[in-house]
Amino acid sequence: MCGIVGYVGSREVVPVLIHGLMRLEYRGYDSAGIAIIDETGNLIIEKAVGKIKDLTEHLWGKNIKGHIGIGHTRWATHGPPTVENAHPHKSRDNSIALVHNGIVENYVQLKEDLISKGYKFSSQTDTEVIAHLIEEEWDENLLKTVLKVAKKLKGAYAVGIISTKEPDKIVALRKGSPLVIGIGEGENFIASDIPAVLEYTNKFITLNDDEIAVITKDSVDIYNIDGEKLEREPFTVNWDISVAEKEGYKHFMLKEIHQQPKSLTDTISGFLSNLDNPVFDNLNKFNKLYIIACGTSFHAGLVGKFWIEKFLKIPVIVDYASEFRYRESPIDEKTLILAISQSGETADTRFAAIDSQKKGAKVLSIVNVVGSSLSRESDYVLYTYCGPEIGVAATKTYTAQLITLFLFAVYGGLKRGFISQREFEDFRHHLSILPKAIEETLKWEDKIKDIAYKYQNVKDFLFLGRGLNYPTALEGALKLKEISYIHAEGYPAGEMKHGPIALIDENMPVVCIAPEDEIFEKMLSNIQEVKARKGIVITVTDSDNSELEKLSDEIVKVEKVSSQLSPIVNILPLQLLSYYIATFLGKDVDQPRNLAKTVTVE
Ligand code: AGP
Repeated sequence: MCGIVGYVGSREVVPVLIHGLMRLEYRGYDSAGIAIIDETGNLIIEKAVGKIKDLTEHLWGKNIKGHIGIGHTRWATHGPPTVENAHPHKSRDNSIALVHNGIVENYVQLKEDLISKGYKFSSQTDTEVIAHLIEEEWDENLLKTVLKVAKKLKGAYAVGIISTKEPDKIVALRKGSPLVIGIGEGENFIASDIPAVLEYTNKFITLNDDEIAVITKDSVDIYNIDGEKLEREPFTVNWDISVAEKEGYKHFMLKEIHQQPKSLTDTISGFLSNLDNPVFDNLNKFNKLYIIACGTSFHAGLVGKFWIEKFLKIPVIVDYASEFRYRESPIDEKTLILAISQSGETADTRFAAIDSQKKGAKVLSIVNVVGSSLSRESDYVLYTYCGPEIGVAATKTYTAQLITLFLFAVYGGLKRGFISQREFEDFRHHLSILPKAIEETLKWEDKIKDIAYKYQNVKDFLFLGRGLNYPTALEGALKLKEISYIHAEGYPAGEMKHGPIALIDENMPVVCIAPEDEIFEKMLSNIQEVKARKGIVITVTDSDNSELEKLSDEIVKVEKVSSQLSPIVNILPLQLLSYYIATFLGKDVDQPRNLAKTVTVE
């Protein structure tokens, strides 16, 4: 949902901004732009519609030089992707330029006010009001002015500002949208996300809501909204820059699919070394649990419901965060909200969690990005240990969310006395062999590629699963939709006869997830029903059942794991299937149209 980057130091600024924007491109790619203060102290702004490569082409031969600047990659909200609407935006007197991630909710009122004072707007964005407001409210210096302006803004934002009046500093402010400050030697950075500047530094400060930073090449000063100076120690990130590289894979998505044996190993050991998490001592205080999340994280929550109700014996309701927030659910101090989010910045999930806290509930979050807003707002946090996920389609973080939910349920069950130590050790054993099972399943890649090639031109897909693997069907359909733009629906296989079976004919591929579990026979009957209507059956199974083999037009055999863990293995062929269909169709797998990795608007 837009990425921002800024640099002040002695390097040439343009390449630093461009590299940073390339690493933030997953956040939006409708247009991009940079603003720098050049060696003569002038403000130069360059923008282009499209991706960072379009901006790079636009900059070709311009030879812009300077040592301070800001950059932006946009996911359009207010106004279509045009050069006028691209950031950075500037003040009327050309002294101020800024980049913004988020939404200024009261921009209409602020804009009308500024227009009545003679300001002219050249874009349809909400952002431009901030630039004019800074000019209008100018008071001695940039910090003092921004402190004044920040009090007038409503909504969520992370903003980076430069001014020719103080050409040695970047002022950054944050409320609700992510912003980190990278600390270098004789140089400093701002960015929406750590990988943007990881090649220059591994020391970071997270700017909190309602804080303002003044950044020069040698100093970083942080203030609260009342202008009081705050102390903040930097933290060190132990990633190396390869986390933000494709490392030989054609796309980040493919790299991330293949990273799953490692991300699962890391997430299991991360969980097991943090068993003293206070949530486990407080579980008896809760009599109901709501899981709230969006997209893929929501699907993880649907699987989590099975495990939590089975092992922890607490009733669970799973809801889309955007729906949950505007319903009057009976929430009180006996309610535990389990908010799941890879980014920890999804506005729908965060705000639903915060609202519930106000009603007395406690929030436990499952988050991948350490230090993200949701992780800081939650009462308890469980991390997935995946490192950055760059592909817009979530893959490795989904399986890591699943494993965390499973561990939460079984360890919580142990703590509440519903599971014996022996059963818990048994589950640990099953978990220890899971990464190897993932590795073996990924060896079916070539077969899945062949299936993808064969069915790439199909217009609709149906995904069917039952029980624990009904959410696998939903997630398989979501993956296919978002990166290949093929219409796909996930359905509980047993529900098909109540309507969707009408869709099936000889042109309809039906992906059937059929692990050999206690409802295998039922699933087999559902597959018979598909076949009887001439549907094309693509089966994902761990079974050698000969009837199933006869019914299947295509079959992918996943490794056998404990049936409770089957959703973690069964999703892999579906991730690969959507990946290869999308690549055969020539789609932009890592940056699908209309999407952004982190959705910080409601
Ligand atoms: C997944 O492939 C999607 N791109 C999307 O549905 C995503 O899962 C959703 O936006 C939630 O994001 P979060 O986990 O960062 O909150």
